[in-house]
Order: sequence, then structure tokens, then C-alpha cells
Amino acid sequence: MKKTLITLILASLAVGLFANGGAEAASTSEEGSQFVIGMSQCNLGEPWRVQMNADVKREADKHPELKVVFKDAQNDTLKQRSHVEEFVAMGVDLMIISPKEAQPLTAPVKACMDAGIPVIVLDRDLVDDVYTQFIGANNVKIGTAAGQWVAEKLNGQNAKIVELMGLQTSTPGQDRHNGFMEGLEGSDVEVIFRADVEWLEPNARAEMESALARYDNISLVYGHNDPASHGAYLAAKAMDRQDDIMFIGIDALPHEGVAYVQDGILDATFQYPTGGDVAVQQALKLLNGESIEKRIVLGSRRFDTENVTSGGEAIN
Ligand code: FRU
Repeated sequence: MKKTLITLILASLAVGLFANGGAEAASTSEEGSQFVIGMSQCNLGEPWRVQMNADVKREADKHPELKVVFKDAQNDTLKQRSHVEEFVAMGVDLMIISPKEAQPLTAPVKACMDAGIPVIVLDRDLVDDVYTQFIGANNVKIGTAAGQWVAEKLNGQNAKIVELMGLQTSTPGQDRHNGFMEGLEGSDVEVIFRADVEWLEPNARAEMESALARYDNISLVYGHNDPASHGAYLAAKAMDRQDDIMFIGIDALPHEGVAYVQDGILDATFQYPTGGDVAVQQALKLLNGESIEKRIVLGSRRFDTENVTSGGEAIN
């Protein structure tokens, strides 16, 4: 009898403790953050990625219930794999990832999902859709718009051009190339020099030096991002050939690509929104129990010397 009584008292104490614990957890979460998001960024060496993290932070700061833990993989795929594993071990509520490369990051993201942590993939896609949601602009469409713009300007002039490609093991690099070739179809514009500069300005500058040494006649450089076309411009400028060549890029950050067009360095740039703010909005929806779409496609704009002062033009 005595024993049963003690058991009963202990049991009710335990229930009380749990109830109390729950209430306490809820009240602390009302004051502090309720949800922890892990943000895995593939590198912060380029202005566009610094902007993406700033966009994530600015949006998250509007929601005191959110805490974002940022990790920078410094352009190292193995490091980014470890970051994903660390977020799983931490038990974050959701992970946002902008992966460096498609293939090697697919399995770690799948493992994160298997551990019950939803994942939003930003900008560069994986090989399978093993995530909750993908957010990014349509790189094939942007590449096609770039190709059509070039064909419009240069068709019929026997133009020879250079393509400085983004990392070919990342989806935007592949898509921006394929789209561009589609856009050039039917024109006589010919790509005479092509290199994978892995999104990096110093690589682009070095490759452009080789192209300039080999070809006296280059009409245009298509860089898969603005740092690539800017690197090419610097190489041409060093040889005083910048005025004979047109330069176009992708990203169109206001303080980078758009400013280059305004300053007469680039002839055109195509906007590639970071999607950082959208990712946080979508994460919140999901964490609050709403369902979200599998893919969100962001829009893009073209800024060239003719429309840059009026805010560019939407790409359809
Ligand atoms: C930055 C960047 C951007 C580019 C994007 C593609 O790392 O190279 O310039 O638009 O990645 O994923």
C-alpha cells in the first residue's frame, strides 16, 4: 500500500515535471529562438555569396523566433559535406544549403532528410531532388537570353567569341552553357575559345590572357558570372584591347555587375537573384506547419547599356 502510494506520488510528480518542463520550454522559446536553421554556404569568396548570406540574415532578423547558424565551406566540397553532417548531429530544425557541386553533395543532403531534417537547396541544384524544396532562377533561360542578345548584336558579322564558363560540375555552369548555345542557334556567331574558370575572376583573367595571345580578333566575351567577365576585361585592358571587345556576364548585383555596365566595363549583365530572403520565408512557412512547393523559380532581368538607367528589362 505504502509502496503504491509512493509510486503514485512519484508518477504525479513526473507528470508535473513534464508539464512544467513543456511550459518552460514554450515560454523560453517565446522569448528566445524557437527554430534553429543551419545555413551551409559553399564559399564567401565572391560578392554574390556574401550577398546571399546577408539576404538570409536580413530576412531572419525580422523573425525573433529564428536563429540561423552559418557555416562557410571555403569552396571545399569535403568541408561542405562535413558541415551538413555537423548540422545533422546538432539536430537543427531545418537546413538551407547552397552546394558547391551537385554530385558529391547529393548523398549528404539525402542523409539529412532521412534524419528528419527538411532541406531547402538554393541556387545550385543536386543530381536528384532529394530535398524538400529547390529555389533558384532558371539558368537555361538566362543562358538562352544571353545567347539571343549576342546573336542579335553580332549575327552576320562573322563574329568570334570567348566563353568563360562556371564550374562544370555545378548545375548553373552546365545550364548557362547549354542555354547560351541554344540562344546562338541560327546565327553565324562562333565560339573559338572556351574554358572552365570555375566562377573565379583570377582564373578568368588568366584564360583570357591565353585567348588574347592566340586570337587577334575577338568580338565578345561571355562570362558565366560577372567576376569572370570582369577578369576578362582586365586582361584585355592590360593589352589595350578592351575597346574592341564586348563583355557580358551574369549576376547583376547592384554594386558589381550593374555598376560595371554603368561604368562602361560590361555591355550587359543578367540578374541572378540570390534567393536568400525567399529561402527564409519558405523555411518559416514549413516550420510553422504549412506545406511548400517542390521548386520555386526566381525571375531575372537584363541590364545593358541601353536600359541600365531605367532599371533593366525582365526576361521572359
Ligand atoms: C558565386 C557564383 C555566382 C554565380 C553562382 C552560380 O559562387 O559563382 O557568381 O552566379 O555562384 O552558382
